[in-house]
Amino acid sequence: MAGGVMVSAGETGKNYPGKMTGAVLMACVIAAFGGLIFGYDIGISGEIHEKGWSYFYEAIFERFFPSVYRKESGLTSANQYCKFDSETLTLFTSSLYLLALIASFFAASVTRLFGRRVSMFFGGAVFLVGAIINGAAKNIAMLIIGRMLLGVGVGFANQSVPLYLSEMAPYKYRGALNIGFQLMITIGILAANILNFFTDKIKAGYGWRISLGGAAVPAIMITVGSFFVPDTPNSILERNNATKAKEMLRKIRGTNDVDEEFNDLVAATEASKLVEHPWKNIWMRKYRPQLVFSVLIPFFQQVTGINVIMFYAPVLFKTLGFGGNASLMSAVITGLVNVIATLVSIALVDRKGRRFLFLAGGIQMFIFQFAVGGLIGGKFGTSGVATISGGYAAGVVICICCYVAAFAWSWGPLGWLVPSEIYPLEIRSAAQSINVAVNMLFTFIIAQVFLKMLCVMKFGLFFFFGGFVFIMTVFVYFFLPETKGIPIEEMSRVWRSHWYWKRFVGEEEIELEKPVKFVA
Ligand code: BGC
Repeated sequence: MAGGVMVSAGETGKNYPGKMTGAVLMACVIAAFGGLIFGYDIGISGEIHEKGWSYFYEAIFERFFPSVYRKESGLTSANQYCKFDSETLTLFTSSLYLLALIASFFAASVTRLFGRRVSMFFGGAVFLVGAIINGAAKNIAMLIIGRMLLGVGVGFANQSVPLYLSEMAPYKYRGALNIGFQLMITIGILAANILNFFTDKIKAGYGWRISLGGAAVPAIMITVGSFFVPDTPNSILERNNATKAKEMLRKIRGTNDVDEEFNDLVAATEASKLVEHPWKNIWMRKYRPQLVFSVLIPFFQQVTGINVIMFYAPVLFKTLGFGGNASLMSAVITGLVNVIATLVSIALVDRKGRRFLFLAGGIQMFIFQFAVGGLIGGKFGTSGVATISGGYAAGVVICICCYVAAFAWSWGPLGWLVPSEIYPLEIRSAAQSINVAVNMLFTFIIAQVFLKMLCVMKFGLFFFFGGFVFIMTVFVYFFLPETKGIPIEEMSRVWRSHWYWKRFVGEEEIELEKPVKFVA
């Protein structure tokens, strides 16, 4: 089957020696801390809305979002779908992603010219300042400025960390090591959820400061951590230090026998030197598959609708009739499912491959999204007025958990892994910025319009996202080649042997090299 073309490393003729060394593992764990700041932030955003029903509500919402406060106090409609429809509320959540989007373009140059590490450090440091301003906020302006700085931090970290991990990893373990980033995202989300659960109980009304200021902890971890990780051999070479690059490669691979891999890195670097303007070159026909995926993968990842659950889980559960505490607890449960299912992905990604996880996860997400929409629609109809029994609500939570698990072993990690491994060095930093920017743009859009969409589309919203999941699953089936087990600087082969993409990248080159075998 055309879409099922698979090439394995052995078949490409490359089989670099070298193992998973302690040095690589350490470096990857530290770098993956970059995911913590992003995750913590996602987790905090959701909870902020939940706090509207407790002390946090008194402290933040009454002060900064009086219109939501009044609305929730029962001054407006009993329609559950429209209860939390506030522009200010959503702007608070989404301002971060807009800044991350812009920052990712600057991060592209920093990552290319100064190395992946510098971007990680800068991202962490700016995020730290944002966390401090947020924790000390005296007005909505401080809240939003702080959040914007967090956005800049996230933009830099998300641009550099996935690249760092994919370049550092021995190709056989690239999937698992790269997913460390997503694992940290999920841990960050869960940590924020749990922290909020407790700060919510602080009656003196400063709990929200702990929650927002707490972002300083993951920020310090990545900022300090970035001093202890080496830069990747690819990046060192890109900055003209061949001896150091080779030394580094030997060190991280744990062997002196790195010539073949090193020569491939040199060839990739030479090719990259010919490209003076990555932003212009990326439009060239031969980079069409990478360009298409750098836009579609993050777009699809976001229109799975995952962040409706991540940002607004407590709002959603509250909408379903759970009490304040119970809804926060349910959000913690989905957070836990998210972490555990990510571990499954780590275990499978380099054995079963990316396509398997994308397809299996896509089908599972589709089923449970329709189940959630059906259950909510069955109870609330279009009027949005109903009370819901404990058993029924538990059924909805279970379906939501199955959906989250499916995302967590497919589009969650692969949405960061696949883009980071398919770009040739000469356009890697630029293309990764597109990936981050598109991801942030749609995260922003969904965060900004979700509450309005829920109010207008009601339970149909879940069918809407389910429809996208169907489209993306079919798309992956036909258009995404398997990238498992292919050395990163050898990746061009997968396009040349793909039934569709070969017309863009030039099939003829394949004859100049060792023929690639297809596996159906
Ligand atoms: C996505 C986020 C999402 C998170 C959930 C990440 O891969 O980029 O938007 O909130 O996964 O775990």
